[in-house]
Order: sequence, then structure tokens, then C-alpha cells
Amino acid sequence: MSPFSRKIWIKTYGCQMNSRDSETLKALLIQAGHVIVDNEKDADIALLNTCSVRALAEEKALGKAGRLLKRKERDPNFCVGILGCMAGRRGAELLKILPALDWIVPPQALPRVPSLIYETLTQNKCTCTVADVPQAFDFTCYEQQLSPKPVLFVPVQQGCGMNCSYCIVPKTRGHQQNRPFESIVTEIRQAAQRGTREVMLLGQIVNAYVDKDAQKTFVDLLQAIQEIDGIERIRFMSPHPSFFNEALVTCFGRLSKLCPALHLPIQSGSNRILKLMRRGYTREGVLNLVKALRAVEPRISISTDLIVGYPGETEEDFEQTVSLFGEIHFDMAYIFKYSPRPTTEAASSEEMIPEAVKEERNQRLLSLLNHSSTAYNETFVGTKQEVLIEGTAPHGEGKLFGRNRYNKKVIFNGSPKLIGSFKEIFIKKATSSALEGYIVD
Ligand code: SAH
Ligand code: SF4
Ligand code: F3S
Repeated sequence: MSPFSRKIWIKTYGCQMNSRDSETLKALLIQAGHVIVDNEKDADIALLNTCSVRALAEEKALGKAGRLLKRKERDPNFCVGILGCMAGRRGAELLKILPALDWIVPPQALPRVPSLIYETLTQNKCTCTVADVPQAFDFTCYEQQLSPKPVLFVPVQQGCGMNCSYCIVPKTRGHQQNRPFESIVTEIRQAAQRGTREVMLLGQIVNAYVDKDAQKTFVDLLQAIQEIDGIERIRFMSPHPSFFNEALVTCFGRLSKLCPALHLPIQSGSNRILKLMRRGYTREGVLNLVKALRAVEPRISISTDLIVGYPGETEEDFEQTVSLFGEIHFDMAYIFKYSPRPTTEAASSEEMIPEAVKEERNQRLLSLLNHSSTAYNETFVGTKQEVLIEGTAPHGEGKLFGRNRYNKKVIFNGSPKLIGSFKEIFIKKATSSALEGYIVD
């Protein structure tokens, strides 16, 4: 073992993009001779892959980093790095709060982490390294082989060039860059040979994907993946309502592997708020899109993201969101209370909504959601569902979990040997968040 090999613990906050980045980083670190540990107490190095999307996400990571750095006071050889979106947004400013940090690495510089660690260890450095953001993202890091997975998250873009007034992401991950078409298809082809059965294509505006050099669109990408042997299911997130065209809508009827489940972040049902948010679509546009999707695939499951308490949101605006909720019948929704993000346009508004009002609106939508998602999930009770088994369920001895094609989580008893395979599950019970059943012989 090399004298520069270390035990490294990585904690991930935030979205699927960050989860995949952490997986990639683990593979790169193992290749560089390090060992990944599951317990922070066993680690020589702790890396936090952070999220900035709401204030709470940053607070959690800062609290954790503060506690880790206490250990460094007793054990100076212990090293701590802040990686990911908060490192991108705040950079060296983080040293004002956490002066003992060893590394600050924005998402675009993650492939450099192994060499940064090596430099620190060999030069015995005691100052923090703040990694520069490279001009062009190096997508080849995603060609690094991961441990075999039934469901693979596949980044097709990095960053976002949209200008939503509330959102910090363009300032954490930079402008939109698209991964070369061939790199994506090659990764998926190789993963299929190693047991991957489902892919989730990831991008902040995933349906705006384009490879100009290869003259390929997002629909071309779906078509190419449809043709890969071994891949049985295709999903993507998050699409932007403005980047749907007829060719993409019809894919839901045409491509047998494209799952009938779509996460479509809408943010608000009020045209006035959508305009202030600079989302670029209207309530009517969204309703027409959902109608077109349901004409192609009547059972399509639609989920969404909504923000309550955006600056200036009146009761009437909120009622528009409530009524959109009723009109679309979302099967699932993530409801967020607006969180001002420094340097974004909306954060300087003088019409901030009081916390208590945000909370009340949040609770109203949650209760509607509870009804609509339970009602939707109950439609599966008494049916057989084809489930791709993903792993052991976190709660409950001997239980496994997987998803049906409609992206509903299904929990049942079974042997871990079944992980990675498809099984028919008879559904006995539904809650607002999952289905329960048993394997049909
Ligand atoms: N690219 C995706 C969203 C990425 S961020 C899209 O455009 O749809 C994930 C979700 O976080 C968003 O859909 C939004 O609902 C929420 N979000 C983003 N910024 C927020 C903020 N400042 N306060 C509260 N929620 C926010
Ligand atoms: Fe943020 Fe808008 Fe980009 Fe989504 S599309 S990541 S909400 S700026
Ligand atoms: Fe994801 Fe959070 Fe960054 S939502 S893109 S990890 S700010």
C-alpha cells in the first residue's frame, strides 16, 4: 500500500447529480489507491459533497463541517474538504467561517480531487487549496467504471444557463455544457453489459440536451438508448416545460423502454409568479403539455416541484397553484418553501412572504398531495407490477425494494440474491409514498 493511501469518508447532500458525482469520485479515489469507508470515525479524510439550493442545505453541511473540524483540532493529520455546489457558490469565502478546511472544490473540479489530496499529503501543506473552475467540464470522468448497479444515474449535462430568478444552480455549477453523445451511449452500453437494466438521464434542463458537433438532439439520445440490448427502462430528470416538442411527447408512445412517469417541475400555477420567476411558460402551456402527454400515454404518472411563498405571492396566486394541483392530479410533488439565495434576483425583493404564511401554504399543498398520491397509489392495489429490484429496504429485516414502471417504490420480502432482476409483485397495500406486496411465483 502506498504511504499516501488514506481512508476516505464521503457524505453527499443534494440531488441525484451530486449522488452520481460522489460515486464517480469514489471510483477515482479507489483508483488512486485510497479506501472508501462507511463510518466517519474510521476516516483519515472527510469530504462533504454539498448542496446550495436552499439555505437549510448549506446550514446542514456547514454544521457537519464545523463538527469534523473540531476533530482536526485534536488530530491535525485529519483532513476535511468541502466539495460540490456550496464550494462553487462560496469558494474561498468559506474560510471565514471554517478557516481550518483543507480543500474547497467546486463541482466542475471534482475530477481533480485525487491530485489535490496527493499534493497536500506530499507537500505536507497546511493551507487550504481552493480549486479553480476549469473552462470546459471534463465529461470523461463519467466514463470511470462504477460498481455494477441495476439503476444507473447518467449525467448528460453539467450546469444550467437558464435565469430562473430564485435559483442558485447556475452560480454553483456554471453554464450549461452538454456531454458528448458518444460518451453517454458508450457508458450506457458498457453498464448494460455489467448488469444495468435502467438508466436515469440527469441534467438541470435535460430535455434541452444537444450535441451540436454530432448533430444529435435529446430525442436522438432516447432513440439510441432504446436500441441498447440489456437496457429495459429509460427515465430522465429534470425536463423543463419550455423544451418539450412534439417529437419528445410522442416518444412516450413510440419508445417501449421509456417509462410512463415524468417528473415535470412546474414551480407555480400562477402566470404572474411564473413570469416573475422567469420560467418562460404559462399555466395554460403546462396544461396543454400534460394533455398532449396523456393523449399519447393515458396512464402517465406526473410528478412536480412547486415553490410556495415566492416573494410577492398573494393568496390569489397561491390559489392558482392549488387549482393547478387539482387539474393535473400530480401523483407526487416536492413542495419547497421559498428560500432566498444570495445574489439571485428574487432575493433582493422587498415583498418577502412571512415564514408562517409559507408554512401554512406548504401544509395546505402537503395535505392535497397526501390525498392525491394515496389515491394514485391505491390504483395499484390488487394488481401485479413488474419491479426492478434495486436493493435491501432501509427499514425492515429481509425486505427488498424496487420500482415499477410508474416510478412507484415497491417493498416486499425476498432474498438479496434477487437484486438486479425483474420480478412480478402482487400489490397488497398502498400508502402515500410506497406500495407493499409479495413476489408472485
Ligand atoms: N433544474 C430543475 C430544478 C433544479 S433545483 C428545474 O428547472 O426544474 C430543484 C428544485 O428546487 C426546483 O425545481 C425548485 O422547486 C427548488 N428550488 C430551487 N431554488 C429554490 C429556492 N431558492 N427556494 C426554494 N426552492 C427552490
Ligand atoms: Fe435553476 Fe431554473 Fe436552471 Fe432549473 S432551469 S437549475 S430552476 S436556473
Ligand atoms: Fe443539486 Fe443542490 Fe447542486 S440540488 S445541482 S446539489 S445546488
